Amino acid sequence: MVTLIDSHQTIATSTRLTLQTEEIAQGTMAIRCLDWDRDRFDIEFELQNGTTYNSFLICGDQVALVDTSHLKFEALYLKCLNQLTAGKTIDYLIVNHTEPDHSGLIGHLLEISPEIKIIGSKVAIQFLQNQIHRPFAYQMVKSGDCLDLGQGHLLQFLSAPNLHWPDTILTYDSGPQILYTCDVFGMHYCDDSLYDEMPQLLEADFQYYYDCLMRPNARSVLGALKRIDKLTIDLVATGHGPLLLHQHQEWIERYRTWSEAQSKAAPYVAIFYADDYGSSDRIARAIAQGLHKTGTAVELIDLGEADPHDVRELADAAAALVIGMPPQTEHNILLPTLNTILAATHNKQAVGLFETGGGQDEPIFPLRNRFAELGLTEAFPPILIKTAPSAVIDQQCEEAGTDLGQWLEKNRRQRRDKPLDSSLDQALGRISSGLYILTARKGEATSAMLASWVIQTSFQPLGLAVAIAKDRAIESLLHGEDCFVLNILEEGNYQPLMKHFLKRFPPGADRFAGITTYDANNGSPILADALAYLECRVLTRLDAGDHWIINCSTNVGRVAHPDGVTAVHHRKAGNHY
Ligand SMILES: Cc1cc2nc3c(=O)[nH]c(=O)nc-3n(C[C@H](O)[C@H](O)[C@H](O)COP(=O)(O)O)c2cc1C
Repeated sequence: MVTLIDSHQTIATSTRLTLQTEEIAQGTMAIRCLDWDRDRFDIEFELQNGTTYNSFLICGDQVALVDTSHLKFEALYLKCLNQLTAGKTIDYLIVNHTEPDHSGLIGHLLEISPEIKIIGSKVAIQFLQNQIHRPFAYQMVKSGDCLDLGQGHLLQFLSAPNLHWPDTILTYDSGPQILYTCDVFGMHYCDDSLYDEMPQLLEADFQYYYDCLMRPNARSVLGALKRIDKLTIDLVATGHGPLLLHQHQEWIERYRTWSEAQSKAAPYVAIFYADDYGSSDRIARAIAQGLHKTGTAVELIDLGEADPHDVRELADAAAALVIGMPPQTEHNILLPTLNTILAATHNKQAVGLFETGGGQDEPIFPLRNRFAELGLTEAFPPILIKTAPSAVIDQQCEEAGTDLGQWLEKNRRQRRDKPLDSSLDQALGRISSGLYILTARKGEATSAMLASWVIQTSFQPLGLAVAIAKDRAIESLLHGEDCFVLNILEEGNYQPLMKHFLKRFPPGADRFAGITTYDANNGSPILADALAYLECRVLTRLDAGDHWIINCSTNVGRVAHPDGVTAVHHRKAGNHY
């Protein structure tokens, strides 16, 4: 039930969602939404100690709110905000990061106060424009931009892309010397302590969170730390868990130690692009997404902002480079940066190029020839964007990124592969299965894949599971609530379909060309030559190492030939399908 206490306030509901507010500096309130029982994040990230969603209200002459909260806190949060502002208008909403657990209430807030100006990175604002179906005032900020709220609250913004989303910024209030970091330095840990009073209780959750969200982008973490190092910090106000007061410098140093070790150990791909030009940033992010699926680390570098020394270092040490062509102008200020990249590369690297669709790109083919002369391997054919950005172009770019990641992984694996113990290997190979083609459509994007690791998992409700390698093209179409069709192949009639879908498709290729299909109720293609099909919906995904176990429900199915028998796949060894 709802109770209100002054100064150190707690508002609670019976469902173990509670809300805590406390002044953390002059004119600055922390609003912490405590979600005691949450046991899962991003459907595959298990939590032991619940979590919190932290938001902050800064009152100078003008008022700014830093991030909001999860939708489940709608009533508690909005009521509390109303009390705290006591009739004052909120002038700015600073969005450090747009994931729904921090941005879930922005729409509600705009309904109450439509005049609020939203401050965020370009990526964040674009994301919100697609997310919130109403116009809003906004300001896109880059590293170094400032906002003076008055009464000593001078805010400075630092871009921190890829920690762990591309949209991330950090906000520093130089008055009370508070750094607002949203996901960065956070942890999923829910208790009443506002600060990190008992660090030894928090260590495991702090590291688990880093490992899950930050480690894949260790070089970006080091880039952000360079910017943070220039600040004098008294408090790190994170978006999850306790605020870091008592040993904030030690927590920051842990990120540095882990990220340095990780960036030395893991090869990475440097993606150079011109953030402000054409759809360069969107293409760069789609390629990065494809690389992430293969577990490859990525550095996204904005050609317009990067320091030449950093460009040289990053281009030299990268396992591969991807370059989005910058605009061609009479005095192209980005040409020296391209020359720095050319001078730093060497013939052990791979390179991929894309046009940005900006209209007057630097020509791609002379640069491609220069890299060929230098002996670099071409990672994927040049991506030439002629139309407006779309889901189909995103898919093409993501698949190009995955191809590049798989090429890098293949080179690494050749160096380190050890044969499996042969008797274990042979025993595992005695697990047999059916043969299936998964087909999926999500918006304009379609995909298909031959699969054998499929089992029924439940009678009531009807459920099944499919194991999908993390770097499969179709993986992107199999997230929570997505739909697909499981086509069951027929003994004596499966070879043509199997042969077709096992082809190596170039990025963005239509996998259904030459195949007869019709649409299922859920929109995915049904293969006319399959024995039977089931319409499925993704419920949850479980991390099983190099595969996702996709747990699904099914509600529609048909058999084409009642006497037909399912094709069976017998193997000899457990180290392949
Ligand atoms: C007999 C057989 C069964 C397979 N079963 C699976 C499977 O269950 N899960 C999976 O991720 N890949 C499976 N594969 C691999 C994919 O079908 C194939 O490599 C994939 O389509 C190529 O990757 P892409 O679609 O990402 O380009 C299987 C391959 C064969 C030959």
